[in-house]
This record gives sequence, C-alpha cells and structure tokens, in this order.
Amino acid sequence: MSMAKLSSFTVFFAFLLSCSFFASTGEAYDARGSNGNITIKWDVMNWIPDGYLAVIDMFNHQKYRNIEAPGWRLGWTWAKKEIIWQMMGAQTTEQGDCSRFKGNIPHCCKSNPEVVDLLPGTPYNQQFANCCRGGVLRANTVSSFQISVGQAGTSNRTVKLPRDFTFKAPGPGYTCGPAKIVRPTQFITADKHRTFKALMTWKVVCVGRSKE
Ligand SMILES: *[C@@H]1O[C@H](CO)[C@@H](O)[C@H](O)[C@H]1NC(C)=O
Ligand SMILES: *[C@@H]1O[C@H](CO)[C@@H](O)[C@H](O)[C@H]1NC(C)=O
Repeated sequence: MSMAKLSSFTVFFAFLLSCSFFASTGEAYDARGSNGNITIKWDVMNWIPDGYLAVIDMFNHQKYRNIEAPGWRLGWTWAKKEIIWQMMGAQTTEQGDCSRFKGNIPHCCKSNPEVVDLLPGTPYNQQFANCCRGGVLRANTVSSFQISVGQAGTSNRTVKLPRDFTFKAPGPGYTCGPAKIVRPTQFITADKHRTFKALMTWKVVCVGRSKE
C-alpha cells in the first residue's frame, strides 16, 4: 500500500470511529433516561378591556412518549380573581360559580380551572389551530388553544402569572415547575412579509415522572 493510500485509509477509519462514537453517545444519552418534557407556553397576543387574549401551546418534547386518549388535562391556579371569558380549541371541565355575572356569562369562574381538549369533529367556529384531538399529544407535536382572560392585568406590568400548574395524562404523571417570563415569541405571517411579537410570553416546564 502506498503512503498516500494508507493515510487516506487512516482518515476514513478515523471518520468511521468518530461516527460510531457520536452514535453511541446519542444512545447512551437516551438510555440514561432523558425523558424530555412538556413545555407549556402562554403568548399574550392582545389586551382586552379587562384582561388579555392568549394562545397556549403545549409542546411534547418527549422523544418517545405519546399522550394517548383520554388525553391531557392542564390545570393552574389564578393569581388574582381572573375569570375565563371564552376559549377556542379547548374547554374547562367545570364552569364554577359565575352567579355574580349578568348578561355576559364567562366560560369559567373557578380559581383553579382544569382544561381539556375538544374532540375531533368539533364545529369549526370552536376550533383553533392544533386543537381538537381528544387530548392526544404525540411525541414531538404541539396542542394549542386560545383563551380570553378577564379581571386580569391589562399591561405586561400588571398581569400576574398563573401558578401551581398541573399537567395530567394517562401514565406515571408529571411535575410542573413555576411559570417564568421569557423573551416574547416572535411570529412570522404565512406570507413571510411581516413579523410581530407577543406582548408578553411565559413558559412552564413539566417533567414526566418515571415508572416505579
Ligand atoms: C425541555 O425540552 C426542551 C427540548 O428538548 C429542552 O430544550 C429544554 O431544555 C427542556 N427543559 C427542561 C427544564 O428540561
Ligand atoms: C413590556 O412591554 C415593554 C414595551 O413593549 C417591553 O419593552 C418589555 O420588555 C415588556 N416586558 C415584558 C416582561 O414582557
């Protein structure tokens, strides 16, 4: 074998070795139980007279863990006396006591609402992008809904973040951290001609408990 051939062979062999090295570290990382997480993002899109309109996205960042029927349930506790005027793409399991309202009755007056997905085939005027899969949230996908919140702050200095988030799904369960304000999400219109920012964004990370 000539010197040139030998050295290119060596380079090739080193390349192969490095490939298998990276492949095996990747596997080891997963085998060590990188369970991933569910990240819940609230983007405040608009202020309304007594609160705000937000889009809530739930990302299943778990590589291999699908959330199957009967699906996810997302809960939290309001910081003040907030109520939910309306929801698109999801609903709360209970309305709670809205008896103090006349005329325009909120969707939910509970201090600790629990939200579930709508079913496939929900009327179009109640749908929202990435909604209505009966709570099914496959690995590496997102579920979304829209909420209008009343009796809340109407500026990014007066909005109080919800607390005590819970994320429930069939299986061993999840532990959620506190909501944290992050840099406002930047959006791009479908025609890519315009970008705009959320007025305020916060995130909650829920980690799956392992089977025991
Ligand atoms: C949640 O998962 C995302 C995507 O894998 C990752 O970027 C983020 O660091 C994770 N967060 C936590 C707290 O584990
Ligand atoms: C609140 O809004 C102001 C003005 O738009 C912005 O500069 C600031 O970063 C916002 N703060 C938060 C916490 O989003």
